[in-house]
Amino acid sequence: MRDALLLAALSAQSAVAQNMLRFACSQLTIERADPLVNPGLAPSPHTHQIIGGNSFNLTMEPGVYDLAARSTCTTCTYSEDFSNYWTASLYFRSPENGTFQRVPQFANVGLQQDGGMTVYYMPYSAVNGKMTAFKPGFRMLAGDPMSKKNNRASICHRCLGNGEGFAPCDSKDTGELPTKYCPKGIRATIIFPSCWDGKNLDSPDHKSHVAYSNGGGLGSPKCPSSHPVPIPQVMYEIMWDTGKYKNDAWYKNGKQPFVYSFGDNVGYGQHGDYLFGWKDDSLQRAMDALPSGKCANANCSVLKIQSAKDAMACKKKQMVKEDVGQDGAWLKELPGGVKVMYD
Ligand SMILES: *[C@@H]1O[C@H](CO)[C@@H](O)[C@H](O)[C@H]1NC(C)=O
Ligand SMILES: *[C@@H]1O[C@H](CO)[C@@H](O)[C@H](O)[C@H]1NC(C)=O
Ligand SMILES: *[C@@H]1O[C@H](CO)[C@@H](O)[C@H](O)[C@H]1NC(C)=O
Repeated sequence: MRDALLLAALSAQSAVAQNMLRFACSQLTIERADPLVNPGLAPSPHTHQIIGGNSFNLTMEPGVYDLAARSTCTTCTYSEDFSNYWTASLYFRSPENGTFQRVPQFANVGLQQDGGMTVYYMPYSAVNGKMTAFKPGFRMLAGDPMSKKNNRASICHRCLGNGEGFAPCDSKDTGELPTKYCPKGIRATIIFPSCWDGKNLDSPDHKSHVAYSNGGGLGSPKCPSSHPVPIPQVMYEIMWDTGKYKNDAWYKNGKQPFVYSFGDNVGYGQHGDYLFGWKDDSLQRAMDALPSGKCANANCSVLKIQSAKDAMACKKKQMVKEDVGQDGAWLKELPGGVKVMYD
């Protein structure tokens, strides 16, 4: 039911009701690796949680490294999706003794998964139902770890339990991490651009080859002339289980006890990385089938679907071996000695 409400609210954003993909991808690995921004660097500066194909690697050269061919499994519902998706981890910093604990995760509404994220491919910029799926080697970044600005339309947080059924990153959400106790968890949302320049698989900042059609947030069928090609709009949702961090004293005077793995304890710098890796033309096939109604959410009949059990069984050992806060462990500092930015 809440699912139906969510989708209705999403659809209300655009002129016509539209189907989209919405599916679970479990945790593949958690480690300091970043083949997009810091290829080859081991360790990369901060911890990421990574989902998708198990060919995830320290270096994944665009157009050369074939994710679908090199992977033997994926953590995603759709077993032809060997893309890699990653974002920062979230840590609780004890206001009492300054130690850190990685915040556990839970599955999104209606989905079965072990950590990871919910991934969406949405048709908001489609023109006459048509979008161009990404090409092999395509990659992009949304958000900016150094941002000190509220960018709520694209990067937002929801303190769960305040009512559901409204669009992601609307006015009930906040750009910053919620400054109050969230008994039912915090949902972090990252909305990627929905328009492409039609030429470049990447750009030096990993952003300039794509654009938002509305200046940010959910798209519309009006891509700018600089980026005229409608692409599927990718969105991540990450569910953080903050229920056990209950203590009134921790949420006073605009303070809250959570900090992202790159040191941001405000949350404006939340960001997500995307490396396209769907097998052959499977993503294009799915996007083409959305208007027919034969393809929606985690039940797209033109795609191969694997069981939640198989998706959860796909794991990759850390390439950069270190304790990033496994199983509730307490850490003296954030992995990599990352400093908390805003105290
Ligand atoms: C990851 O990269 C290493 C070093 O380049 C390479 O030996 C290995 O085969 C790669 N992994 C996969 C799955 O291709
Ligand atoms: C630090 O504080 C947290 C609560 O804020 C507590 O759960 C944890 O056990 C403490 N660790 C140490 C080493 O005192
Ligand atoms: C998926 O779609 C098929 C065909 O429309 C339907 O029979 C099936 O019940 C659906 N499954 C789920 C989990 O919604």
